[in-house]
Amino acid sequence: MSGYRDLGYKSYFVNVKNTNFAFNSLLSPLINEIATYTEIDLPLLREKGIQLAFKREELLFPGISGNKYRKLKYNIQVAKAAKQHTLLTFGGAFSNHIAAVAYAGKIHGFKTIGVIRGEELASLPLNPTLEKAKSHGMSFHFVTREAYREKHRPQFVAKLQETFGHFYLIPEGGTNALAVKGCAEILHESDAKYTHICVAVGTGGTLSGLAEAAFEHQEILGFPALKGTFLQKDICNFTQQNNWSLFESYHFGGYAKVTPPLVHFANQFSNDTGIVLDPIYTAKMVFGTLDLIANDYFASGAHILMIHTGGLQAIEGMNKKLRKQDIEWLL
Ligand SMILES: Cc1ncc(COP(=O)(O)O)c(C=O)c1O
Repeated sequence: MSGYRDLGYKSYFVNVKNTNFAFNSLLSPLINEIATYTEIDLPLLREKGIQLAFKREELLFPGISGNKYRKLKYNIQVAKAAKQHTLLTFGGAFSNHIAAVAYAGKIHGFKTIGVIRGEELASLPLNPTLEKAKSHGMSFHFVTREAYREKHRPQFVAKLQETFGHFYLIPEGGTNALAVKGCAEILHESDAKYTHICVAVGTGGTLSGLAEAAFEHQEILGFPALKGTFLQKDICNFTQQNNWSLFESYHFGGYAKVTPPLVHFANQFSNDTGIVLDPIYTAKMVFGTLDLIANDYFASGAHILMIHTGGLQAIEGMNKKLRKQDIEWLL
């Protein structure tokens, strides 16, 4: 399907290929044949002589949107080959990764356990993310924030093994070497025409995969969704490339924090382009990219590709918080 919508003062062109596949396995080789792009047409871009496109990874695998499919693919393959029966992973209450592991476990026949940050959540009604994960069969182990910080320690993992028996461990955010290998597959040969790739950053796994796969002339721009300078070091553990940089002033107060101007921006962007952004990651990245364009970071003639890494499942939970401030994120 392809189409052109004239929205009066703004318009966009959509080229959607092969979206009729209904995949029931993360391991289907066909998935990597699919790429959906939306060309963005905004007055700012015309004024600055910049071309901007969105790679729509959020449309790739229903139920496991965006980079989560890329991160889980090889982990599922290895867990299956090792005849593992249980996947155990870590995350916060809104975690896209928790939601994705629950769904991947369901369709691939794994038992799933989510170690969730915040002991207090055990006695509260589940939020939409956790409710959905539970409906996909995940069981939860709620731990205090202090205990959660220990999750990398072998003693902490040994204790989990005592409690739950043998499991295949997927780190927080899904980031490990297999995830980076999967994220490298986001870029295809056809992406060689872009000069810059923009992506949201949490743990840095997705950016590392892109840095590994990028063409020589390409620069990767990462937009951390959280405060802190620790990311730079973490990313260097996953990639030796030096074709990337982080733009650290677009976190809007930190992880899972949103401000009314960010809500307004995302709703406006969605109205103008038809693309929904998630509040925790992609909205901040798109805001940052457009801000850099407005401030002439890119030379005229740049051809920028933004990666939509998904995360739309978090909107429902975020709106419960936002409605208390009388604002709403549009889906
Ligand atoms: C929607 C979304 N975008 C971007 C990211 C950032 O990915 P990474 O942790 O690999 O930096 C995440 C977190 O995994 C995410 O859920």
